[in-house]
Amino acid sequence: MKILVTGGAGFMGSAFVRHVLANHPEDLIVNLDKLTYAGNLDNLKEVEKNDRYKFVKGDITDEPIVSKLAADQVDVIVNFAAETHVDRSILNPRDFIMTDIVGTYNLLEATKKYKIARYIQISTDEVFGSTPKKFIEESKFDPSSPYSASKAGADLLCSAYTKTYQLPIVVTHACNNYGPYHYPEKLIPLAITNLLENKKVPVYGDGKQVREWLYVDDHARAIDMLVRKEDVDSVYNIGTGEELANLDLVKRLLQLLNKDESYIEFVKDRPAHDQRYALDSSRLREVGFKPKIKLDDGLAKTVKWFQDSRWWWDKLKSGEYLEYYKKQYQSK
Ligand code: NAD
Ligand code: DAU
Repeated sequence: MKILVTGGAGFMGSAFVRHVLANHPEDLIVNLDKLTYAGNLDNLKEVEKNDRYKFVKGDITDEPIVSKLAADQVDVIVNFAAETHVDRSILNPRDFIMTDIVGTYNLLEATKKYKIARYIQISTDEVFGSTPKKFIEESKFDPSSPYSASKAGADLLCSAYTKTYQLPIVVTHACNNYGPYHYPEKLIPLAITNLLENKKVPVYGDGKQVREWLYVDDHARAIDMLVRKEDVDSVYNIGTGEELANLDLVKRLLQLLNKDESYIEFVKDRPAHDQRYALDSSRLREVGFKPKIKLDDGLAKTVKWFQDSRWWWDKLKSGEYLEYYKKQYQSK
């Protein structure tokens, strides 16, 4: 099978690329990625010499490049490419609208034109907004940030293309992923790397906001299953049921790194901060997917990976990152 992966140099896309190449000896992967600040070829070092893998630097908003790659005997497209960080979307929404909506439109057009057998859109639980009870796949969209509104726009395009053109599209709504190669602007890698640098961890508001956590390799397994399964639904939630308040999560990381609570710094809250995300993932369970990594084990593995991988993250926390970081935390 030939898979066109977009955004495969990011955190979750690279986990999927590594997983497929390691587990499916017949598969070919073409990875189209713009290499934004979040895209990183270091994430793909272990596959870069694999002759079943090809990297193409390019933008999904660029119609000719998307069309050229999709035309070349692709069986499945998996779209991980996106601007993904909520706080950046609040500072500057434009790139989110371009990549997350216009980029998805280009990929859907290519799916239609070249009769791609399956298109998988990697989406998020954030499209549903905040919830007192678990979201099902049919819950109403109620996005709170420019990021989640852009993702919701792309998901609606997917559902319109399914209805109008009968395209074989699957949209997945995953909860918060974590694990190796997670860019250190997101809560878990930011907290771990700050603590390894002896710096405090910024906690927004009162830290009582709840997120559901999924180890990134489990996410890769779930997508891999949806790539290959014969009969699929058009939408799946991907969660674990393992929910935790941000403050409790940070306290677990402090414990794993032998630091006390003086390393917590409460800062101004994120505007329109969603209080809780929680998914009902029974549809995916019914077709046979079960996460393997429990949160406690996953956090311990992740901390160990960051301890051993300073070569990977040290250089990321300078340059553009520092500029963003100063701007972000200045406004608190
Ligand atoms: P990431 O920010 O780590 O990586 C995004 C990748 O997309 C990068 O490699 C970047 O270079 C690439 N990219 C950005 N704009 C592009 C463009 N115009 N053309 C081509 N490539 C482009 O993101 P991630 O955390 O790996 O998230 C991957 C996908 O999963 C996103 O669609 C995101 O919305 C979704 N998602 C993320 C999470 C999470 O917890 N991280 C949870 C649910 C869903
Ligand atoms: O739920 C899935 C989403 O998870 C994905 O769609 C997004 O792409 C991904 O970025 C992530 O979004 P979150 O906003 O939930 O992740 P983030 O790591 O930015 O924040 C997690 C929680 O921690 C959130 O409630 C905000 C809070 N937070 C975050 C940062 C960066 C802090 O308290 N302090 C921080 O410094």
